[in-house]
Amino acid sequence: MRLLEPVRLGELSLANRVVMAPLTRCRADNPDFAPTEIMQRYYVQRAGAGLIVSEATIISPEGRGYPYTPGIWSDAQVEAWQRVTDAVHAAGGRMVCQLWHCGRLSLPDHHGGEAPLAPSAVNPEIEMFSGGAGLKKTVTPRAMTREEIAATVADFGRAAKNALAAGFDGVEVHSSNGYLIHQFLSPLANRRDDEYGGSIENRARFFFEVLDAVVAEVPAARVGFRLNPMMNRAHGLLVDENTVADFEHLVRGANRYGLAYLHLTEPFMPKQLEGAPGALAEVAPHFRPIAQMPMVANGAFDARKAEAWLEAGWCDAVAFGKPFISNPDLVERFRRGVPLAAWDADTFYQGGERGFVDYPVLGA
Ligand SMILES: Cc1cc2nc3c(=O)[nH]c(=O)nc-3n(C[C@H](O)[C@H](O)[C@H](O)COP(=O)(O)O)c2cc1C
Repeated sequence: MRLLEPVRLGELSLANRVVMAPLTRCRADNPDFAPTEIMQRYYVQRAGAGLIVSEATIISPEGRGYPYTPGIWSDAQVEAWQRVTDAVHAAGGRMVCQLWHCGRLSLPDHHGGEAPLAPSAVNPEIEMFSGGAGLKKTVTPRAMTREEIAATVADFGRAAKNALAAGFDGVEVHSSNGYLIHQFLSPLANRRDDEYGGSIENRARFFFEVLDAVVAEVPAARVGFRLNPMMNRAHGLLVDENTVADFEHLVRGANRYGLAYLHLTEPFMPKQLEGAPGALAEVAPHFRPIAQMPMVANGAFDARKAEAWLEAGWCDAVAFGKPFISNPDLVERFRRGVPLAAWDADTFYQGGERGFVDYPVLGA
């Protein structure tokens, strides 16, 4: 099975091509926003993955968008993550930290009542988790000043440095799924008229400044980045007729860095592409000839589809999200060809051990 073969993504040596996709699980229920003991157990259970991408991890208090998500800006967080990465390494695993700023995908509840920051004052018009009060409607965010943009770029650099200090094998820049970097890229979210808005060169500027700040702290061959070019609707409108060309520009620009990998998500949500002009039904095959770096594909894959895409040469590894939630021993299940356990969506973000560290392992 190709999925079970080792592979190198830059300086990251993976024992197999099965990547654990980043999965927000909202279990950092402490005032420090630090990873907890059950999170350590959860990741150790999944250390059979060739690479674990951590749940999205906040780079600064301003970047928060959800309750109980961990951060990587403070010493307490670095110390707590060190316990997680030590345990994952002791179990034979590899782990990178996904660096996250939510931008407009947030609520005033997470910012002392203030509007969240974004490239422009454009409300994504969705509902998000506030914590105690359940789902709430998003508000119009406040457009970032240039000083705030520079400070946020620096926050990404500090977070990358902290991730290495915490023992991660590298970092993944979270430039997908409609969060801050993606907001800068899309003209539907970015209406700026300064050097960060307008042309694709300007809209991509923030991404490349972040990448520069990150590779100043972490060797480029240990840095990956994630894109979900066809993400639309669920996290606000983002796709227009130039989106594919915009992402081609981004990937071409990233080629010069010598990065570990490009992580691409396929459209997998119902109605995601409805009314999106020029949308791509298959993302990785389109970008494969453009990207001069290893590629990880993701989005509703099973073992059979993953094998087919590896065989076709459309990617070097495949990331699994929900299957890893309910199958801690996913790699072993692929090896033995046994059926996968179903996931329970009600416990994705619910907190606590149930639906988190209690999914059974084969033979246990
Ligand atoms: C519970 C849950 C949490 C997620 N959290 C993140 C995240 O923190 N960062 C991210 O980039 N994607 C996140 N995603 C998206 C997944 O990484 C993945 O792209 C998606 O689930 C599709 O892959 P799958 O079909 O294998 O689950 C999340 C998805 C789910 C279901």
